[in-house]
Amino acid sequence: MKFLRNCWYMVGWSSEFSATDIVPFTVMDEPLALYRKDDGTLVALEDLCPHRLAPLTVGRKEGDELRCMYHGLKFAADGRCTEIPGQERISSKVCVRSYPIEEKHGAAWVWMGDPAKADVALIPPIEGPDSDTYSMVCSKFVMNGNAELVADNLLDLSHAPFIHESTFGANNKVSLKVQKDGETKRGTTVLERGVVADRWHMGRPTNPYFDLPSDDNVVSTFLVPGVFILKINSFAPGVQDRFVDGKPNEEPIFRRCTCQMITPINDTQSMFFYNFGPDHEHADLKEHAFGIADAAFAEDKAIIEAQQAMIKKVPGRKMIMLAMDQPVLRYNEIYDGLRTKEEAEQAAAPAA
Ligand code: FES
Ligand SMILES: [Fe+2]
Repeated sequence: MKFLRNCWYMVGWSSEFSATDIVPFTVMDEPLALYRKDDGTLVALEDLCPHRLAPLTVGRKEGDELRCMYHGLKFAADGRCTEIPGQERISSKVCVRSYPIEEKHGAAWVWMGDPAKADVALIPPIEGPDSDTYSMVCSKFVMNGNAELVADNLLDLSHAPFIHESTFGANNKVSLKVQKDGETKRGTTVLERGVVADRWHMGRPTNPYFDLPSDDNVVSTFLVPGVFILKINSFAPGVQDRFVDGKPNEEPIFRRCTCQMITPINDTQSMFFYNFGPDHEHADLKEHAFGIADAAFAEDKAIIEAQQAMIKKVPGRKMIMLAMDQPVLRYNEIYDGLRTKEEAEQAAAPAA
């Protein structure tokens, strides 16, 4: 499976990186050693000592450098070897790959492609633990399913009434019916690196977070390489009658947000980072809200892992696409277009 390389992949929440630890993480089968320099900035090196291929994550952090604890080679944050015990001359060939890494929105992001193209403006605008608007609870788990299956799941919310019958889906049957009746407004915008769907679910009788009827504005954004940002603003019923210039002329009674970031570990596993939170005014509901989301994501995990296991049993079997798969097809077009462009650029680049 070919994944995009010229993009930022989330490799952890900021809180996962202490001042002393060396944290292992694998992206697209490439092992990384992640650590903080003494000034707190993050470093991403290939987790592979070039001498005898021992992992650097079982080595030792010495100031801003890492020492391999097999025969003692030491590497700087830019990957240069700075010491070979018992040897004066150090060839520039003795080095490890270093990757651009940035910390933003309370998370760490690694650029897996051409370092010259690493543009911090492309870091997805997630709402993290430092959000100005939401009180987020953050978590992660390994999904035994490839990143494409996870992306398909997030893009296709029509699974909610079935997989999430006992969590998110309780009232989504109403939403689907409303859509069929044409009462739900749908607006999909195609971006250069993703899609945004802006919908209204009118007349929800109640919702899992607070026991009030509401009209919900649901805005979902899906960005490469697999970042889902869902913001739901609940308004008092009948908001459409109070619209000014096609928009609500009032503040929502309740806001909530979830962000979900998929990082491919290999062809059959991904790291699933996620969070969920209400607006700060309803911060007291954050553990309750996260608990519902957490249970729902476990439901997704179960079906995706069952799907991945089945795909392994029937290699070569094709899937069929239905009307509900439109967002998946649209996103795949964008992803495949970027990948084709990236491959063409790689082919045109002079050999290193
Ligand atoms: S394997 Fe790392 S120093 Fe020998
Ligand atoms: Fe789901």
